[in-house]
Amino acid sequence: MITRRSMLAGTAALAAVPLAGRRALASNLAVEELTAAPATVQIAPEGYPQTEIWGYGGVVPGTEIRARQGSRLRRRLVNALPEPTSLHWHGIRIDNAMDGVPGVTQEAVPPGGDFLYEFDLPDAGTYWYHSHNQSYEQVARGLQGALIVEETEAPDIDREEVFVLDDFRLDPETGQIAGFGNMHDFSHGGRIGNIAVTNGIFNKTLGARHNERLRLRLINSANARIFELALQGLEGWIVALDGMPLEAPQPIGESFLLAPAQRADLIVDVTAEDGAEAHLLRLEGGEGFSHVLFEVRGSASASRRAAPAALPPNPDMEVAGLEEALTSRLHMEGGAMRGFQTATMDGREVGFRDAAQNMKFWAMNGMVGMPEEPLFIAERGRTVRVVMQNDTMFPHAMHLHGHHFREVLPDGGLGPMRDTLLVFGDESREIAFVAHNPGEWVFHCHMLTHAASGMMTRMRVL
Ligand code: C2O
Ligand code: CU
Repeated sequence: MITRRSMLAGTAALAAVPLAGRRALASNLAVEELTAAPATVQIAPEGYPQTEIWGYGGVVPGTEIRARQGSRLRRRLVNALPEPTSLHWHGIRIDNAMDGVPGVTQEAVPPGGDFLYEFDLPDAGTYWYHSHNQSYEQVARGLQGALIVEETEAPDIDREEVFVLDDFRLDPETGQIAGFGNMHDFSHGGRIGNIAVTNGIFNKTLGARHNERLRLRLINSANARIFELALQGLEGWIVALDGMPLEAPQPIGESFLLAPAQRADLIVDVTAEDGAEAHLLRLEGGEGFSHVLFEVRGSASASRRAAPAALPPNPDMEVAGLEEALTSRLHMEGGAMRGFQTATMDGREVGFRDAAQNMKFWAMNGMVGMPEEPLFIAERGRTVRVVMQNDTMFPHAMHLHGHHFREVLPDGGLGPMRDTLLVFGDESREIAFVAHNPGEWVFHCHMLTHAASGMMTRMRVL
């Protein structure tokens, strides 16, 4: 049932790509730097060509950032790339000016330029950071990393691992990141890679002990791939989603989905015996692939521990006042097979074919791309409900900046706190949140080619 799929089958190993010149940037500033720069790394298995990436700190995923809840984070982004860039701190309830969205909260940082990001970290949890300029390409080239905000009181575990799940599309001949500007990616399900990786590594393997309790922080940094994950030789609970603790740990059943940009914190016990293997499995078309392999050696204790407690909640997160809420609708249309009748693009009325010629395929509320006017304007503290109606054939991972929301379920109940919600084709889903964070916040699909081809709007909190 489990296969370690070999990739790039049939290609001869090519000579390593020469190391891209990394600009040396002199600096005597006290703030820690995060340099976005080209680098060459081994993504494909040993023996296959190396890949030129763009990475923070020259690695993919970028240098892990770890801080304490309640502390202040400072990083100077230094742009050693050949094009402008910016940094977005995904999921952080951040000061708007630090949100990193070019054209909305700042200008893109030009090559050779830098930008100081400085903000408080009110919430513990698993977050990530990534480029927000030309992101369908820059994130795919590697401009992404984990941002971990630790609880003041750590949960009772033996060890923790951060797994950034991603996929790359590599040219089988050269090993290089390939296939940008592919119309199919823009108009269908997004840019899906041909090699799925964990922390930039294909077939990630690590050790574990029988009865060991692990916290796994999973981050989906892929452009468009929805990971369906399952456990084997591991048993446990989801304890947080998109950084936010669940009120009660939720036992992991058959499998669970992790859409682009979503995170899940798991607490798992290694139930596989000493000498056996355990897996984080990736399910594809009913088949399970070993995405992370744990080689179980030795034993951590004679028996399993009691079920874990919930993680401590983050402050001031509650969603209330649904009855008097400001209600907004987001109608999503477009994409292959359906298209749209007409929509407004760059201030003019266009048909679907017209838009497609400009590599635009999606409309939200009849607008292709960022509208002049926000979707809605909410006073600070106002409860907002947004009904998202997906009239396309494709799933969309809808992400709101600066806030977490809860889903309003059909029975009126509230779902877990999230910042990214997967909305399948022909589905209508509703979210609610308290607009507590003043500023201009984008709201977009995190299938990044969709965002680039129309699925981007914004809201304003006064
Ligand atoms: Cu993860 Cu608008 O971003
Ligand atoms: Cu989408």
